[in-house]
Amino acid sequence: MPDALRLSTVRAGYGETVILEDVALALPERGSLAVLGRNGVGKTTLLATIMGHTTFHAGAVFFGGRQVERLPVYERVRLGIGYVPQGRDIFPSLSVEENLIVAARPGKRWTLERVYDLFPRLAERRHHRGNQISGGEQQMLAIGRALMGNPALLLMDEPLEGLAPIIVEALLKSLERLLAEDELAVILVEQHAKLALQVTREALVMSRGRVIHQGASRELLADPERLAQLVVAQ
Ligand SMILES: Nc1ncnc2c1ncn2[C@@H]1O[C@H](COP(=O)(O)OP(=O)(O)OP(=O)(O)O)[C@@H](O)[C@H]1O
Ligand SMILES: [Mg+2]
Repeated sequence: MPDALRLSTVRAGYGETVILEDVALALPERGSLAVLGRNGVGKTTLLATIMGHTTFHAGAVFFGGRQVERLPVYERVRLGIGYVPQGRDIFPSLSVEENLIVAARPGKRWTLERVYDLFPRLAERRHHRGNQISGGEQQMLAIGRALMGNPALLLMDEPLEGLAPIIVEALLKSLERLLAEDELAVILVEQHAKLALQVTREALVMSRGRVIHQGASRELLADPERLAQLVVAQ
């Protein structure tokens, strides 16, 4: 299967400040990758770099076979990269349904009905404003908005952060369904390492802007000691 996304020897950061150093990864079409690591190691910067929000210093980013590291953000969105930023990017004064409609881009896969089917809670709240729904519903809405763009690659930055366990469970079920049914690749940045490993095929661990481990999610899940070493005691 061809790669949906490939990074090689990427160095990037904010202005002159370099955060990512020598980052390489490959994600196949329909693949799923957990990005783990403690606070401040560069997980958000990695997603922001794939999206085009950082200063790119060196290396290459290929998406769907095209070299994209110098393209502006809107071009990458047009090519099919969807982004659910840390902290949920929704319009508080628009209704749930309006939030979804304004995010739609040409494409056949995703419709309002399909988003509502994936997240039934959003269907119940379709006429509520973005600021009238719970944190979990806002997160579902943020993901729904990204899906309305019919992405081939979906980047999610800590979607489970700050959510009640019952909502986490519902969201994970939807994510699992999404990965099984839709033809998209996903990168999931998470502090909840075990949950992220349960729903992804591959995993990558970062430390100080570098990739310090890459392998099957299953293997890390089966080796809690190694996982703790990599993610906690770096
Ligand atoms: N806009 C910015 N300008 C300069 N430095 C930044 C900026 N945003 C983040 N950084 C720095 O980049 C490094 C990596 O931050 P990043 O947000 O990517 O980490 P993270 O792994 O996502 O952390 P967290 O788990 O807390 O979300 C940190 O040292 C941070 O201070
Ligand atoms: Mg972050």
